[in-house]
Amino acid sequence: MDLVGRIRRKDAVVGVLGLGYVGLPLAAVFARNGYRVIGLDVDGEKVAALKAGKSYIKHIPGSAIAAMNAAGFEPTTDFSRSAACDAILICVPTPLTANREPDMTYVVGSCEAIAPYVRAGQIVVLESTTYPGTTDEVMRPILERGGLVADRDFFLAFSPEREDPNNPDFETATIPKVVGADCPVAAEAAVALYASVIRRVVPVSSTRVAEAAKILENTFRAVNIALVNELKVVFTRMGIDVWEVIDAAATKPFGFMRFTPGPGLGGHCIPIDPFYLTWKAREYEVFSRFIETAGEVNTSMPAWVVGRTMEAFSQRGRGLRGSRILLVGLAYKKNVDDARESPTYKLWELLERQGVEVSYHDPWIPVVPKSREHGQFAGRGSVPIDRAGEFDAVLISTDHDGVDWKRLLADARLIIDTRGVFRTPHEKVVKA
Ligand SMILES: NC(=O)c1ccc[n+]([C@@H]2O[C@H](COP(=O)([O-])OP(=O)(O)OC[C@H]3O[C@@H](n4cnc5c(N)ncnc54)[C@H](O)[C@@H]3O)[C@@H](O)[C@H]2O)c1
Repeated sequence: MDLVGRIRRKDAVVGVLGLGYVGLPLAAVFARNGYRVIGLDVDGEKVAALKAGKSYIKHIPGSAIAAMNAAGFEPTTDFSRSAACDAILICVPTPLTANREPDMTYVVGSCEAIAPYVRAGQIVVLESTTYPGTTDEVMRPILERGGLVADRDFFLAFSPEREDPNNPDFETATIPKVVGADCPVAAEAAVALYASVIRRVVPVSSTRVAEAAKILENTFRAVNIALVNELKVVFTRMGIDVWEVIDAAATKPFGFMRFTPGPGLGGHCIPIDPFYLTWKAREYEVFSRFIETAGEVNTSMPAWVVGRTMEAFSQRGRGLRGSRILLVGLAYKKNVDDARESPTYKLWELLERQGVEVSYHDPWIPVVPKSREHGQFAGRGSVPIDRAGEFDAVLISTDHDGVDWKRLLADARLIIDTRGVFRTPHEKVVKA
């Protein structure tokens, strides 16, 4: 087939639709490997930044964008440019609605935007995390609106993104990539495409298996994080340090995998993706109890941390009302500038409800970004960490590298540590 031939010769044009945390590094990998890459996004500001050789993601340097541009990268908001692409890789958000159901707006919107330009011989691959059946049931009918038939005239595949932003050990090209398609030609083309830039491609028998594999990975994390969070609550009541327990258990060289507790789940994936499956499972009248239970435990964590903070205050003869607390870490995990779904927001809200005056420090996020759910905090600025001593307590919600913890211990009056930063007991430190 011509598409596979073009991929093999690397003269296929690759379109990446959605240039965020996932799409931008993916576009970079294809550009670096000699493909002509067209980047499509609805966000004109992002496209303008890329054209100017600037990055809007802190761990991706501007020099990487400049290198992409030098290799012919074409960022655009003009979706008719999708007609020029041989392969279109869709990396748009898949959040939950206010009712905690899959929000397909972005997947549907992006398919509708390219549907008028779908042409014979193209392959469209969805990379967004979603429930099994999305490629076939949601994408296919939209892309077929122009009269061409999927997996006969043009092709469909699903390949889940496993990006772990700013992981020093793995990047897009070195993370094995699962690829599923529902016809042999689509499978051959998708595997050839990814294999040309990614070290290891793992073909599976269908789009649904590929979709389900990603949900399994993220559900596995959500459930195991819930387990250690539950054990944290249990062991804390018993006066046992959960961090020491985990360190000890992790010396077992087989049959144990280390997960660490925290202030709750955050990020665009782990708190959300498992609920894509529970929603879909209901259609089949089956229920995913582990996922619901894990969700309950993880969701209750910020309230538990605030309860521990209250206890620590009352043991020191005072209440939370009228106190000042500095939250350290707004990002949902260390060393990224991504605050989506961060449990820090929840802590912030709960503490304010208790009459606390809350500030935050995050070296990665100087100003709170706009967000749908926590708009009231947008625009607030990060307080310098050397002012920690001015607060009644410091609550560590993200353990970024680069924070001088020793100095913080010296400066702070009380530290609520949700990340196990301080392992040796100290009168100022309360683990939560
Ligand atoms: N961020 C991660 O670490 C990560 C890891 C693995 C998988 N994922 C999955 O990858 C997908 C994308 O996540 P992300 O973190 O890159 O999101 P993101 O918000 O960083 O990026 C999405 C991009 O899509 C653009 N966009 C939105 N609607 C669009 C449309 N209709 N047409 C074109 N562009 C549109 C946005 O402007 C944005 O630039 C999600 O399904 C997510 O679950 C994310």
